[in-house]
Amino acid sequence: MNVLLTGGAGYIGSHVLRALLDAGHNCAVYDSLVKGHARSVDPTGARLILGDVADSRTLGQTLDENEIDTVINFAAFIEAGESVEKPEKYFHNNTIKGLELLETMRAGGVKRIVFSSTAAVYGSPERIPIEETDPLVPINPYGASKLCVEYMLRAYAHVYGIGGVVLRYFNVAGAHPSGETGEDHTPETHLVPLVLQVPLGMRNDIKIFGDDYDTPDGTCIRDYIHVCDLSEAHVLAAEAIEHGQIKTYNLGNGEGFSVREVIETCREVTNHEIPSQVTPRRPGDPPGLVASSRKAIDELGWKPRFAELKTIVTDAWAWHQNHPDGYDD
Ligand code: UFG
Repeated sequence: MNVLLTGGAGYIGSHVLRALLDAGHNCAVYDSLVKGHARSVDPTGARLILGDVADSRTLGQTLDENEIDTVINFAAFIEAGESVEKPEKYFHNNTIKGLELLETMRAGGVKRIVFSSTAAVYGSPERIPIEETDPLVPINPYGASKLCVEYMLRAYAHVYGIGGVVLRYFNVAGAHPSGETGEDHTPETHLVPLVLQVPLGMRNDIKIFGDDYDTPDGTCIRDYIHVCDLSEAHVLAAEAIEHGQIKTYNLGNGEGFSVREVIETCREVTNHEIPSQVTPRRPGDPPGLVASSRKAIDELGWKPRFAELKTIVTDAWAWHQNHPDGYDD
């Protein structure tokens, strides 16, 4: 395949890039570098084109020049909490620009897409583990902004024959074993990197956003997945695209860990004390999100290799110790 990774210079895109290259596919990366890092792409030798997904001219030219047959779209804002305060930012960037991307693909005759969706489309689920057919009732604009694109994809598949795979990510963490790429968000909002900033001496403690949820220890439960396992699923997904069909898969490990359990695992891995402090809930946070990924395992043949939370944290820790300031670019 000739794959264009839009938003491919970000945390997840830079890992998927390596998995696709390892599988023998041709790849180019298209990124505005508003959130992404050129240095996450550089070591791979893949071509990096600077542009916004809504810039139809540059994107159209890129599709054409690189004879792209498949797009994997990572370009999005991802902070559920911020989306509650600034919904317009999320609907504009994720939804409207998602439509622009589809239109440019249509104009260029590119009919295959893998789309990064999220567990946030389920809102506060009535049961866990969550299956793909469970109700879609996002409780924050971030989840809603992604769900809109899922609906667009189905319409485009029906009318224009687009083939696609929607991947609903649960909580992605960890880093590439090469040490070349890992997590570097500004601002950082994700739990694992924030906890690891304590042993790195970059913060005094970790804030626990609420301990009054209806969960065993009162803190939120999430399903953590290693970014390399998630990346393998993208390769399989891209290879499984079928004309005029949209397939949807959850990607998680099927096991939930509370915020307190994640902090405890970070203590074990780093051998540091890691003080914590309970603060009020963060708006837009559902109490528990745990995936059933049975469908991805059965249909895509996906085999997660790094399912242990300790492995995920260990790999994240190796990256952050070597890159305490991220890419610093
Ligand atoms: N948390 C804290 N303290 C912090 C940071 C986070 O207690 O300093 C808590 C959150 O309240 C939440 C859990 O840790 O309960 C995980 O929070 P993250 O911000 O790491 O991840 P989210 O679950 O909010 O969101 C992530 C991705 C989304 C994706 C979602 C799916 O950012 O893109 O997982 O579960 F949609």
